[in-house]
Amino acid sequence: MHFTPAVAALCIGALSKVAHATSSQNCCTALEATALKSQVAYPNSAAYKESIGSYWAENVQLEPTCVLQPRTAKEVSLAVSTLVAADGGSCKFAVRGGGHTTWAGASNIADGVTIDLSLMDTTTYDEKAGIASILPGARWGSVYKTLAKYDVTVPGGRSGVVGVAGFLLGGGNTFHTSRVGFACDNVENYEVVLADGTIIEANRDSHADLFKALKGGSGNFGIVTKYDMKVIEGDKLWGGLVTYDNSTSLKHLEAGHEFINNLEKDHDASWIGMWEYLSVTDQNMIANALEYTTPVAYPPIFDSFTAIANTSSTMRLTNLWNLTEEITQANGYRDVFVTATFVNNLDVMKKTVDIHNRMIEEARGSTKGDDYTMFTMIQPWPKLFTDHSIEKGGNMLGLDRFDENLFQVLIDYSWKNEADDALFNRLANGALEELVNYSKSIGADNEFIYLNYANNNQDPLSSYGSENVEYIRSIAKKYDQTGVFQTQVPGGFKISAVGQ
Ligand SMILES: Cc1cc2nc3c(=O)[nH]c(=O)nc-3n(C[C@H](O)[C@H](O)[C@H](O)COP(=O)(O)OP(=O)(O)OC[C@H]3O[C@@H](n4cnc5c(N)ncnc54)[C@H](O)[C@@H]3O)c2cc1C
Ligand SMILES: *[C@@H]1O[C@H](CO)[C@@H](O)[C@H](O)[C@H]1NC(C)=O
Ligand SMILES: *[C@@H]1O[C@H](CO)[C@@H](O)[C@H](O)[C@H]1NC(C)=O
Ligand SMILES: *[C@@H]1O[C@H](CO)[C@@H](O)[C@H](O)[C@H]1NC(C)=O
Ligand SMILES: *[C@@H]1O[C@H](CO)[C@@H](O)[C@H](O)[C@H]1NC(C)=O
Repeated sequence: MHFTPAVAALCIGALSKVAHATSSQNCCTALEATALKSQVAYPNSAAYKESIGSYWAENVQLEPTCVLQPRTAKEVSLAVSTLVAADGGSCKFAVRGGGHTTWAGASNIADGVTIDLSLMDTTTYDEKAGIASILPGARWGSVYKTLAKYDVTVPGGRSGVVGVAGFLLGGGNTFHTSRVGFACDNVENYEVVLADGTIIEANRDSHADLFKALKGGSGNFGIVTKYDMKVIEGDKLWGGLVTYDNSTSLKHLEAGHEFINNLEKDHDASWIGMWEYLSVTDQNMIANALEYTTPVAYPPIFDSFTAIANTSSTMRLTNLWNLTEEITQANGYRDVFVTATFVNNLDVMKKTVDIHNRMIEEARGSTKGDDYTMFTMIQPWPKLFTDHSIEKGGNMLGLDRFDENLFQVLIDYSWKNEADDALFNRLANGALEELVNYSKSIGADNEFIYLNYANNNQDPLSSYGSENVEYIRSIAKKYDQTGVFQTQVPGGFKISAVGQ
C-alpha cells in the first residue's frame, strides 16, 4: 500500500499499523540473512497457509509476519539467537508445538515470527534403554504408531491429533496416569534451547533444577527440542466410546463418584465422562471413554458403568494408536476451554450437569450460527496420580498439597460462526464461575487449575502454590537471565504475569 504523507498523517491507526508491521519484517529479514533462509515462509506461500491452517482452533489462526520452520535443534538455536539480537531486541516471537491451545496468542502471534516446530516430528526408540525420543512437533498418534511396532507405548494424549510439546510441558493427563503418574513424570531427559542459543540436556544428573521445572512450568525457560520418555511395556488395551441417553445422567455421576474412589484398588482403569450437546442433531447425550490399559474386557471396576443401558458402544480389545485415532474432536471450529478442579463430591457433579443443561438452553435461543457443540467433561483427579509423581521425583503442579481425591471439569464449547464468540465465551466463563461459587458454598472447592485446559483469563501457574511459583520464577531467571521467554515470547502462561 502506498500513502502520500498527507493522507497517512490523517489516518493514525493505519500509520501505526504499518510502522509496526515494518518492525516485525526486520525480524523475518534477519532470519533470511542466515542459513535459515529456506525455512522462512510468508503469507502467500503454501507452507505458511498449511502451518496456520493446522492450528486446531480456528480462533487461534493468527497471521504472523512470517513462519519459521526449523528442522533441527541447531536451527532452533540459530533462530533464537537471531531473533534475540535482531532489531534492537524488539522482535516478538511465538513457539508452536502441535498448536492445540484454544486461546489466541498462546502458540502463535499476529505481529511477529512464529517458530513452528512441525517439521521436527519423528519418534525413535532405543530398545535397550526402553526410551522413546520424541521431537516436539510430533502428534501423539504418530508416536503411538511408531512405538506399536515394538509393543511398547508412552503415556500421552488421549486423542491422536494432540501435540506432544505443550502437552508434556503442562503435565499431561493420560489413560495411564493411575499407573505411572502424569505424562511429564515419565520424561527422563529434555533437550532444550536456551535464550542465549545454547543447547543443553536437562535430566536428573544434569541441570536437575530445570528438569523438574519443565514438568508443568510450560514455555517459561526455553524451547524444548527433544523429549526422552520412559516407555510402558505393552500397548494393548480394552477401550472405546460408549454412548447413552441423557436420562441416565445421575447413574453416571454416582458411578463416576464411586469410580474415582475405587481407582486406588485398580490402577489400570480410566474414565472420561462427557456430557455432549450437538446442535446439528439437537442431541443432548452422554458418552463415556472407558479404558483399561491391560487387555482385559469388562473388568469389575467398570461394573457400575456397564450396568447402565447404552445406545452404542465401540468397546474392543485394541492398541493405543487405534483407540486414539477414534477419540477425536473436530478441528476447524472456534473453541473455548475453561477448567476447574473440585473435591470428589456428588453434589458438585450434579451441579456441573445442571449448569451444562441450562447453558444449552441459553445457547439454543441466542446463537447466530447453527453449527456448535457444547461439551462438559468430568475426569477423575485422584490422589494416587500425585503419589506416582512423587515416586518419580516430583513435578511443578503442586498437587501434593492436597490429600483428597479430586475431579476435574472441562467446559469445552465449539462453534462455527465468529458472531457467536462473545456468547460462548460468556456462557463458558459464567458456567465455570457459577460452579466454582457453588463448590465454595459447600466447602468442596479446590484451587488447582490445569494449565493445559486453562483459558487465558485463568491463572494456572498460581494454582501450583506459592512455593512452586517461586521455584519456577527462580529457574526462569537462572536459565533466561534477560527474560527473553517472558517479554520477547509473550504467548502462553508466563511466570512474570503471576503476582509476587
Ligand atoms: C482435541 C484435544 C484433546 C486433548 N486431549 C488431552 C488429553 O488427553 N490430556 C491432556 O492432558 N490434555 C489434552 N488436551 C490439552 C492439551 O494438552 C493442550 O492443548 C496442549 O497445550 C497441547 O500441546 P500442543 O503442543 O499441541 O500446544 P501448543 O498450543 O503448540 O503449545 C502450548 C504452549 O506450549 C508452548 N510450547 C509448545 N511447544 C514448545 C516447546 N517445544 N518448547 C517450549 N514451549 C513450547 C507454546 O508456546 C504454548 O504456550 C487436549 C486438547 C485438545 C484440543
Ligand atoms: C436431558 O436433556 C434435556 C434437553 O437438553 C434437558 O432438558 C434435561 O434436563 C436433560 N436431562 C438430564 C437428566 O440431564
Ligand atoms: C452396551 O449395551 C449392550 C447391549 O445391552 C451390552 O451387551 C454391552 O455390554 C454394553 N456395553 C457397555 C460397555 O456397557
Ligand atoms: C482400528 O481397528 C478397527 C478394527 O480392527 C479397524 O476397523 C479400524 O480401521 C482401525 N483404525 C485404525 C486407525 O487403524
Ligand atoms: C460468584 O461469586 C462472586 C463473589 O461472591 C460474585 O461476585 C459473582 O457474581 C458470582 N458469580 C456467579 C456466576 O454466580
